[in-house]
Amino acid sequence: MPLTPNIQALQQACNDKTPQQILKLAFDTFGEQLWLSFSGAEDVVLIDMARKICPHLQVFCLDTGRLHPETYRFIEDVRQHYQLNIDVLLPDSEAVNAMVREKGLFSFYTDGHQECCGLRKMAPLRKKLATVGAWVTGQRRDQSPGTRSQVAAVELDTTFCAPDRTLYKFNPLAAMSSEEVWAYIRMLELPYNTLHERGYISIGCEPCTRPVLPNQHEREGRWWWEEAANKECGLHAGNLDKNSSAGA
Ligand code: ADX
Ligand code: SF4
Repeated sequence: MPLTPNIQALQQACNDKTPQQILKLAFDTFGEQLWLSFSGAEDVVLIDMARKICPHLQVFCLDTGRLHPETYRFIEDVRQHYQLNIDVLLPDSEAVNAMVREKGLFSFYTDGHQECCGLRKMAPLRKKLATVGAWVTGQRRDQSPGTRSQVAAVELDTTFCAPDRTLYKFNPLAAMSSEEVWAYIRMLELPYNTLHERGYISIGCEPCTRPVLPNQHEREGRWWWEEAANKECGLHAGNLDKNSSAGA
């Protein structure tokens, strides 16, 4: 049975709470209907916290087929470190094949990233989220002044909810800064993606991610050929609506 707790009550319960308290609330409320999305970048912090709170942690990762070798290695390191099952979700091969046959392997540089992200990330995510009550992400407000400054600890996900159900999205690290995340990783000696040792901060697919220079914002290393204001791949498309209404 899908759960439909009151969103205002959940938001109030998350007010001024630590990431661990928000995660516990999410697990206590949704139990086996809760899934955590892991991207193979710095959100190992989320897995580490959740692992200590929820013994039956359920994790998925979207394998777009275009991740860096280092990211695959890191996903495996995390799987072994925590003795954790990670569901690795693949895109529909027929759909990807049709796009690549028509436009080649790098069409996003000329056509924009939406079509490719739509097939490789959004469609598998939509399929997964149609079966869950709530998901947890590692989004933080400091990741993108342009699109993430309004991210709430918990919100309704209107982008991926199936027509007949309500989908909840928890962002327990929303208020955490990059410094705090990295202090946590170093203090507990957590595994991390070795690309971070080579100037990468925000890590997505290999052809669409590059390292940044000192004082460049981390988001500048993602889809660098596109407008800064639109740097969401669709996974968190709701952020674009929130930011445009906040700025209006
Ligand atoms: S993205 O939308 O620009 O790609 P970002 O890399 O900042 O997102 O990651 C933010 C959060 O989105 C991650 O902490 C994770 O919860 C989720 N996420 C992003 N990419 C993936 C992926 N490939 N698989 C699973 N979750 C992902
Ligand atoms: Fe395709 Fe780039 Fe999006 Fe990955 S980030 S799904 S390669 S457009």
